Amino acid sequence: MPTPSPARMHDFAVVSNVEIADGVFSLTIEAPALAAALKPGQFMNIAVPGNAQSLLRVPLSYARADAGAGIVEIWFAVVGDGTRRLAAMEVGDTSTLLGPGGHGWTVPAGPEACGRALLAGGGIGIPPIVALARALSERDIPFDACLGAASASKLVGVPELERFMTSGDIYVCTDDGSAGERAFCTDPAALLLQKGGYDYVATCGPGVMMKKVADAAAQAGVACEASLERMMACGFGACNTCNVETVDGMRGACMCGPVFDATKVVVW
Ligand SMILES: Cc1cc2nc3c(=O)[nH]c(=O)nc-3n(C[C@H](O)[C@H](O)[C@H](O)COP(=O)(O)OP(=O)(O)OC[C@H]3O[C@@H](n4cnc5c(N)ncnc54)[C@H](O)[C@@H]3O)c2cc1C
Ligand code: FES
Repeated sequence: MPTPSPARMHDFAVVSNVEIADGVFSLTIEAPALAAALKPGQFMNIAVPGNAQSLLRVPLSYARADAGAGIVEIWFAVVGDGTRRLAAMEVGDTSTLLGPGGHGWTVPAGPEACGRALLAGGGIGIPPIVALARALSERDIPFDACLGAASASKLVGVPELERFMTSGDIYVCTDDGSAGERAFCTDPAALLLQKGGYDYVATCGPGVMMKKVADAAAQAGVACEASLERMMACGFGACNTCNVETVDGMRGACMCGPVFDATKVVVW
């Protein structure tokens, strides 16, 4: 029997929807049962109104879930029709979503299990890294972070990670040098892993970036998880559009992921 999906249908209402970086929006929705159920690294599949011909929902991760307030904060980049319509949703607009989807990060239990973590996020892969950083800080696990973006105007997540850090550093890299170092965030990540001192690595971003982080973690002998992006038509294990080639065969990212043990991934 396949594992049943943890997802169920939720109504939601838009609380706010603002552009926080060039082409990147922060959407806060009210969805109390979802906010209480989500775990860092999980995703939801959102029905976006405005195009009767589009049957597909948009799969999105989240940066913050506040069970007390019943809200979830999603950061998304506008790349096509669905995310354009999502950016046009206004305060009070309503729709439905399916979630929580899949399984998220294996957050270490506490500082005894993980003395220090390294987080590496690139572009719009940063939101689930922010959700993880919050969970690590709640468990008193110190971490360093390497964040990458095309330019300063597209960079998100730095203030949030600073807030969750008790000790540690954020290494910011941009392709054009407009913020932090002109480098890829895989460069500081590889150097930090060479120096050692980490027990857990988490990465989300472009495939090529995650592979480099995973290779550096493997060389350093540190456990690494990666959150993979695939096209997702259904989001609950029925359609096979989201397959990831792993050492154990094809695995659907919506049910077996999106977070995978990096040593298992064959095609990023
Ligand atoms: C588990 C998961 C979590 C995600 N979390 C986030 C997030 O937190 N923030 C965010 O901005 N984006 C996230 N994405 C990517 C997001 O789902 C796509 O950008 C979105 O579906 C594009 O929809 P669209 O209708 O605007 O674009 P479309 O017109 O459908 O496509 C525009 C471009 O995006 C590509 N694309 C479409 N769907 C996907 C997809 N599912 N994965 C990869 N590329 C896609 C297309 O190939 C095309 O190049 C996530 C994807 C997955 C699978
Ligand atoms: S999205 Fe349909 S099986 Fe994964």
